[in-house]
Amino acid sequence: MNVSVTGNSHAKIILIGEHSVVYHQPAIALPLPAVQVHAEMTANLDSKQILTSRYYSGDRQDAPIQLQGINRLIDALLAHLAQPDAGFTLTIKSDLPAERGMGSSAATAVAIVRAMYRFFNVPLSHERLLKEVAVSEKIIHGHPSGLDAATASAETPVWFIKGETPQPLPFHLNGYLVIADSGIHGQTGIAVANVAAYRKAHPKQANQAIHHLGELAQQAKVALAQNQVTHLGTILTAAQRDLKQLGVSHPVLDQMMTVARQNGALGAKLTGGGMGGCMISLAATQADAIRIQQALSGAGFKQTWLQPFLSEETV
Ligand code: MEV
Repeated sequence: MNVSVTGNSHAKIILIGEHSVVYHQPAIALPLPAVQVHAEMTANLDSKQILTSRYYSGDRQDAPIQLQGINRLIDALLAHLAQPDAGFTLTIKSDLPAERGMGSSAATAVAIVRAMYRFFNVPLSHERLLKEVAVSEKIIHGHPSGLDAATASAETPVWFIKGETPQPLPFHLNGYLVIADSGIHGQTGIAVANVAAYRKAHPKQANQAIHHLGELAQQAKVALAQNQVTHLGTILTAAQRDLKQLGVSHPVLDQMMTVARQNGALGAKLTGGGMGGCMISLAATQADAIRIQQALSGAGFKQTWLQPFLSEETV
């Protein structure tokens, strides 16, 4: 056992394919390496297991419901690592807003799994990492596709189909994404359940929208590879129409997209589970992206991130 170790992870956004990915359509996700989560494990001399995060600080057995997924993950990890009674303090520090469609729960789980394996000096394969993360994602989101977990641990853009190995996605696009937080908690579990209910009630319309989202993801892959930024904008807006039909948008997200489009965005859509959370909009140039960012801020949406497609940096 080590005295103190850290496991890191980062945010992700779904460019296209949320919800339809649950029904085996492809999705594209992009890592945001500059938006980080750190999990620090420190040995305790007694056998106390302490959890410290923005929600809670204290004995992990008394942690509130929001930390249930993390607690179950820790139970599973301690069992797999044959260390059920080890004493430690696990401190989680996150730049990610929770429940805003940026993969906060999966990113946190990735950081914890890395920290735990490091703490007990056990090598961790990528496959093992994804399996461990799936434990807490299932508790939090019900029947997740695995997209969040796969992307939270990926260093490159990813092409993802449920049940298949995620593929790194080559792209050559000059463009900028402006990501903006609505300030409203997204509700991935509820949104996924709502889509399932809509699909049961209106199978034809729902399946059409889901299938169309899959076609749009295929088109987006080509647009990314061939530097078709205007076309990609149109694709994103078309995907938003399908997501709205599936019932996972929100009036505030719709308002943000209008602001983005009025200020030069080539396209915009929600990202992640929806019903709140974040919006992404596409800009052709950095000047356009900054204008969109400023207009959103003027409309009261102050938390934004600017991500150039061709750079590692988040500005
Ligand atoms: C949530 O980030 C993405 C969804 O497609 C759910 C999932 O893939 O598990 C809405």
